[in-house]
Amino acid sequence: MEVIEKINEIKMFRLKLTEPVGFVPTMGYLHQGHLSLIRRSRAENLSVVISIFVNPTQFGSGEDFDSYPRDTECDLALLEKEGADVVFMPSAREIYPPQFDSWVVVDKLAQRLEGANRPGHFRGVATVCAKLFNIVKPTRAYFGQKDAQQVAVIKKMISDLNMNLKIITLPTVRESDGLAISSRNSYLNHKERQAATILYRALTLTQKLWSEGERDARRLRQEMTSLLKKEPLAKIDYVSIADRETLSELAQIISPALASLAVKIGSTRLIDNIVLR
Ligand code: PAJ
Repeated sequence: MEVIEKINEIKMFRLKLTEPVGFVPTMGYLHQGHLSLIRRSRAENLSVVISIFVNPTQFGSGEDFDSYPRDTECDLALLEKEGADVVFMPSAREIYPPQFDSWVVVDKLAQRLEGANRPGHFRGVATVCAKLFNIVKPTRAYFGQKDAQQVAVIKKMISDLNMNLKIITLPTVRESDGLAISSRNSYLNHKERQAATILYRALTLTQKLWSEGERDARRLRQEMTSLLKKEPLAKIDYVSIADRETLSELAQIISPALASLAVKIGSTRLIDNIVLR
């Protein structure tokens, strides 16, 4: 397995890779969620490229860029075991040299939900993904449904800007009690970890009501909200029942809808979602 830090070097190495090339962009501190993407990429492609880059431009001021968990040694050992061909691990200066001045902005779609609560977040995500796609030139790139709006934004960028790759989305990997696996779960203390199961319980409740025939989106939002309010450690950022593609809030559910939420447990902000279909 090759570990490369420079853009020029990975571009050279890319020329030698056998097509098709699968790509999994990550911020490291790899867990089972990442591994599910890496394994699918390994199964579907002849070459696999992984990037590890904690992208500073997608963190707002006051967010957790500095404290974001990092463990390169452990990540590289895992990737070696999973059969990655090459790991791209650039420095922030390599990706954003001092004169860097171009940004990719997906407009309306990125202003909703996470975008409304984290201004500039998707500008950072779209820009870094556009750069990584240009550098790696993958046949397919793998993303988790865990970050549903991220996938929607990336797909929109690819379609609007005619980028030449396919996005594959894989289901959210969960702990046995339903909590979506996330690098940020490591911030939770024992009590908060228990409280964090409220996110999945709220989504499961929505799923149940929906499968019993409830189509009134406002009622579903209310039910999720009142369940979340029963957990003293939980503070709601948003609760949403939205169109799966446009992410605009729905009144009535007619086509597949995205039920999503962002909740602070103590000082840790967690997100989760399910698709109602
Ligand atoms: P990161 O949070 O490291 O996630 C990398 C990929 O793993 C994303 O596609 C994310 O949706 C997926 N993932 C995370 N937890 C998952 C889970 N429990 N089940 C399934 N997939 C999961 O997302 C990012 O990094 C960054 O925004 C990035 C795309 C790398 C751009 O900087």
